[in-house]
Parts: sequence; structure tokens; C-alpha cells
Amino acid sequence: MATPRVLLIDDERAVVGLLALALKDAGYQADVEHTGTAAVGRLSDEVYDAVITDLRLEDMTGIDILRIACKRYPSPAVLIMTGYGSVDSAVEAMKLGAADYLTKPVYPQELLLTLDRALQHRQLLSELDALRQRVGQLQLDDLIGISPALQTVFRTIQRIARTDVTVLITGESGTGKELVARAIHNHSSRAAHPFLTVNCSALTETLLESELFGHAKGAFTGAIVAKKGLFEDADGGTLLLDEIGDMELGAQAALLRVLESGEVRRVGETRPVGVDVRIVASTNRDLENAIREGKFREDLYYRLRVVPVDIPPLRKRLDDVLPLAQHFLARYAPRFNRGNVRLAKETGEALLRYTWPGNVRELEHAIERALLLSDGDVLLPEDLPPEVSSPPASRANTMQLTLAEMERQHILERLDQCSGNRSEAARQLGISRNTLARKLKSYGFSDEETNEASDEAFP
Ligand SMILES: Nc1ncnc2c1ncn2[C@@H]1O[C@H](COP(=O)(O)OP(=O)(O)OP(=O)(O)O)[C@@H](O)[C@H]1O
Ligand SMILES: [Mg+2]
Repeated sequence: MATPRVLLIDDERAVVGLLALALKDAGYQADVEHTGTAAVGRLSDEVYDAVITDLRLEDMTGIDILRIACKRYPSPAVLIMTGYGSVDSAVEAMKLGAADYLTKPVYPQELLLTLDRALQHRQLLSELDALRQRVGQLQLDDLIGISPALQTVFRTIQRIARTDVTVLITGESGTGKELVARAIHNHSSRAAHPFLTVNCSALTETLLESELFGHAKGAFTGAIVAKKGLFEDADGGTLLLDEIGDMELGAQAALLRVLESGEVRRVGETRPVGVDVRIVASTNRDLENAIREGKFREDLYYRLRVVPVDIPPLRKRLDDVLPLAQHFLARYAPRFNRGNVRLAKETGEALLRYTWPGNVRELEHAIERALLLSDGDVLLPEDLPPEVSSPPASRANTMQLTLAEMERQHILERLDQCSGNRSEAARQLGISRNTLARKLKSYGFSDEETNEASDEAFP
């Protein structure tokens, strides 16, 4: 450790002068203040490893100093000095986070021992913190996620990236489908080749086919020159067919032919060319439903869904909310010159309470916006968008619910938090899996609907 920095606060000048000398002799860097106000000023300008304060100052108490010091990051170890007879307050201080207390008169030797012990303890805690972060934080490229669901996604990506199998990525808007597609590409032997994306919902059937497969000169009105399609441009690389659920049936048929033959034919040409492209498709639609409605070809669905990757909505993997928030904080804070900014505890709680209909994209924007609107080192709940910081109506309304309704809500929330894993939800609720199944059935769930997210099926 570098020379530890200590702030000594006491209005009895002779006492602190003596203690400061002892600290300096022992190799500490010691600053001295005689009033609370001056000490608080110091604490906001400088970083200290330890603060040693008298319990009773002229303008405030040692407890006030303690509260302020605890809000600093990194927070110093705080030692409280008390006069004879105020041990109760010292104990109170320890409950609030003080590292230790010393009864007056304080002897230098005793001070050094107590301080040394407090600093060692603090060091240990911060090492533990760092270790926890390293163990807990699983990251793949730019993808953050410690939830079991995301860890399964990471494992799938690593396992299939080097193969050429087609991947179908499903998930609500903003869950990270494109990021996952990029990670698959980056981890494949195709990484040095192009990764191209086409949005299948943005183009009419003819334009989409010409975009994907290219066209001959004069193939249709407006085709003034011959053009290569994305399949040829992406040769050797990966092509992401985004919003595949919105592709029109004619284009689906053409795509299926390419996937089956490995050849593309430019619109208006007879001669096909061979292409080597890995296809990743993504959608926020329920394709099985689209098949039932006759809007999506079943054969294409199975052709694409060789490896399915489903990314659950953020509200079903609350474990990821705070790591993602920290990730975006670390990404955006430097851009706004706010290197040291962190989340207040209440802000983290608000982030966990919200349901995130816009998923990770919405969280990213919320953090970016909070950084823009706030100042100071701590992001407060009121810096968040109003819909995030104000409590959801469903909780406010619990007063009017019947007992049965409350039970239902509680069970479904817990199941949600367990990503649909019934055994885990039952364990956490303290009921048997059968009881849970019976209750779910009475709420109208089939046996399948909430079943455990099985480890992805990969042939
Ligand atoms: N696990 C994650 N870790 C880090 N950033 C993420 C993660 N998931 C999503 N993001 C970020 O959230 C934003 C939205 O992600 P992305 O564009 O991949 O979502 P999407 O599922 O393709 O959404 P849409 O269906 O609307 O196209 C991006 O800025 C992305 O970087
Ligand atoms: Mg997308």
C-alpha cells in the first residue's frame, strides 16, 4: 500500500497535534482539522484511507462526519474517539459503519494498533470486492450478463461459432440480438471477412431480393446497372437477416432455394454463382405463430433454426440489470467527463423494480440520460427517466387485491425471476413442485408454458 492518508479531527488542538506527530512517525500522512465544517471540505476534495474523529465537535458530531465519509468512494475507515461515559454512542457509530472506537484519553500506541487493524480489514474487503466482480462478471466481447440465461447464450456462441450452422436468434426488441450475431461472427473463422446486416422488414419483396441476390442490368425498372447482392458481398463472412419474421413469402421461397443450393442467382440472370456465407437470422416475432397464420414458411423456419438462441427479456433476468448499468456507466461517464460517477443504492433499487419494456436498449438510454441530466459523483433516482424512478402502479394497488390475487401475483413474479424454472421457483416459494404446477394450471398455464429453459438443443 502507498503511504496511507489519515484525517484527524478534534477541537482539542493539543491532543490531535500529539496524535498527528505519532502517526507521521509511524509512516502515515496525517492531516488535522479542528472543526466539522473544515473536515467535510477536506473530505470532498481529497481521498483518505482513514478518518479519526472526536464524537463531539463544536459544529457537528462525529456521527455526521461518519455518514458523510461513508458516502465517499472509496470510503475511508472511520475511527471514533469518545470521552469517558459515551461508549453507547460509540457502539451506535459502529452500527452505522465505523470501523472501531477509541476511548479518551487516546494513547498513540493504542491509536496505531487500532488504525492498523482497521486499514487491514478495509484492504481485505476491497480485495474481496474485486474478486467477487471478477468471478461474477461473465463477459463475451461487449456482451454483459451474469444471469443463467445469458451464460447459456455465451456458451452456445462459443460452441457453435466455429461451425457453419445457421442460427436463429429470438428475443424482444432491445435484448441484444444483433450483438449476439456479431459475437458469433467475431468468434468464428470468418472474423476477418465481412459481417453484413439486412433489415428484412424495410424493403419490398423485389427490392429485398435484389438487395440479397443482386440483379442484372435492366432486370426491372430502375435497375440501370448490374449489382452484386449482399450474399456475394458477404462471401466468406456472415450475413445477418434481421427481422426475418417480416420477410414476405416470395422472398422466403427465394431465400430457401439459396440456403439449400448454396448458390445465388442475380435477379434477371440465369447463371448462378456459388457463395460461402454463414446465415444468422433474428426476429422479435413468434415465428411458430406466424407459421400457423400462414405468414412464415415452416420449411424455412426449420432450415434457419438449426441452432436456436433465445434471449429472454431483461425483466426475466434481473441479475443482469446492475452489471449492465455499471457497464453503460463505465462506457458513457468518460464521454461526459464524469469518470468517478456511481449509482446510489436507491438508484440501483429503482432499476431493479422497473420492468424494462425496451429491454437493454432502454436501460442504456436511461443511464446515458441520467449522466447528461445529473451532476456530482452519484446518480440519484430522480436522475432517471420518470417512468423508471416512480414505483409501478401494480405495487401501489396491492391494497385492493384479494388474498388469492396477491398469491397469484407473488407466484408469477417469482417464476418470472427464476426465468420460468419451476423447480427453482417452487424451492424459493417453499412449496412443492406439484403444488406449484397445480396453481399454475389454475391460472390457465399449460404444463409446457413455463417449463425450465432447457440447455439449448444442438444436434
Ligand atoms: N448483453 C448485453 N451487454 C451489453 N450491451 C447490450 C447487451 N444486450 C444489448 N445491449 C445493447 O443494447 C442495445 C440494443 O441491442 P441490439 O441492437 O443488439 O438489440 P436487438 O435485440 O437487435 O433489438 P431490435 O430487435 O430492436 O433490433 C445495443 O446498444 C447493445 O449494445
Ligand atoms: Mg436488432
